[in-house]
Amino acid sequence: MEATLAGEDLVVWRTGSGVPCVSEARCPHQWSHLAHEGVVDGEELVCLTHFWRFGPDGAGWKANLDGRRDRKGDLAVLPCVEHDGAIWVREPGAEDPTGA
Ligand code: FES
Repeated sequence: MEATLAGEDLVVWRTGSGVPCVSEARCPHQWSHLAHEGVVDGEELVCLTHFWRFGPDGAGWKANLDGRRDRKGDLAVLPCVEHDGAIWVREPGAEDPTGA
């Protein structure tokens, strides 16, 4: 799902095991919008343009057919929490946005 915060395009997604994630929306390779060109595969968000993969920590990888994984560019991630069915971005140093 796409979102915008302070003019920044974001992608909000959930890993296969249910971990909520928020990151910058643009793939660091060739700028595809991951809310439109990305799919979740297990615990990673995959850019369908050239198949770079990103974990919840934003680390970028390319998986080769022989099983080798090569490091690629990373996505900036925003810390987030889930509360009452919504995903909230937590600014560094700020109080919990859910008030919990
Ligand atoms: S634009 Fe995302 S992998 Fe190339």
